[in-house]
Amino acid sequence: MSAAETLMERIHKDGKINGQIVKVDQFLNHMVDPVLIHLLGDDLAARFSQYPITKILTAETSGIMLAQAVALKLQVPFVYAKKKRPITMPEYFAAASYSFTKQESTTLYVSKEVLHREDQVLFVDDFFAKGSTLKAIEEIIGQCGASLVGAAVIINKSQRTDIESILTLDDLHSAVSGSE
Ligand code: G4P
Repeated sequence: MSAAETLMERIHKDGKINGQIVKVDQFLNHMVDPVLIHLLGDDLAARFSQYPITKILTAETSGIMLAQAVALKLQVPFVYAKKKRPITMPEYFAAASYSFTKQESTTLYVSKEVLHREDQVLFVDDFFAKGSTLKAIEEIIGQCGASLVGAAVIINKSQRTDIESILTLDDLHSAVSGSE
């Protein structure tokens, strides 16, 4: 069974699709199935194996597990942008991101010690919705002078075709309507 088929089956078994919201907190972003995350991470990583990626970049919190799986497969480090700047981070890149899902604004911080001009970055996250997290990450990469190679997520809720994903919201909706 492919990664997409496995995820689809799991969403139908333990999750819920409620219009634009996909409930996955039994296996992806609250309780986490490490075997599933690694299957999804391997699948996304394989799509970028020909690129000279030096770092995976995600944002706290739910992107971290996938970032680790992708980074392990590509054998590069991963960095998670922090939502609070610790006092141990005196020099940093920062950008604001507004979450439409959560209806709040957050600032993402990345230390200048972990992201460098020569980095070739792959952005990874659990969901891609309105793209505000990616926009903030692009701003941070721009401040640093590094390069963004691509973006990979588990579920793409947008119509953007340049975002690699295991499933799109359209895939989920058509599976539901096909089974009715
Ligand atoms: P965007 O970055 O693409 O614009 O997306 P948006 O702000 O709308 O949503 C981002 C946050 O909402 C993410 O969490 C993401 O995990 C969560 N999210 C978006 N759509 C869904 C959904 O359909 N189901 C679930 N379960 N979560 C969704 P975050 O703000 O980064 O916080 P964290 O939970 O990772 O700490």
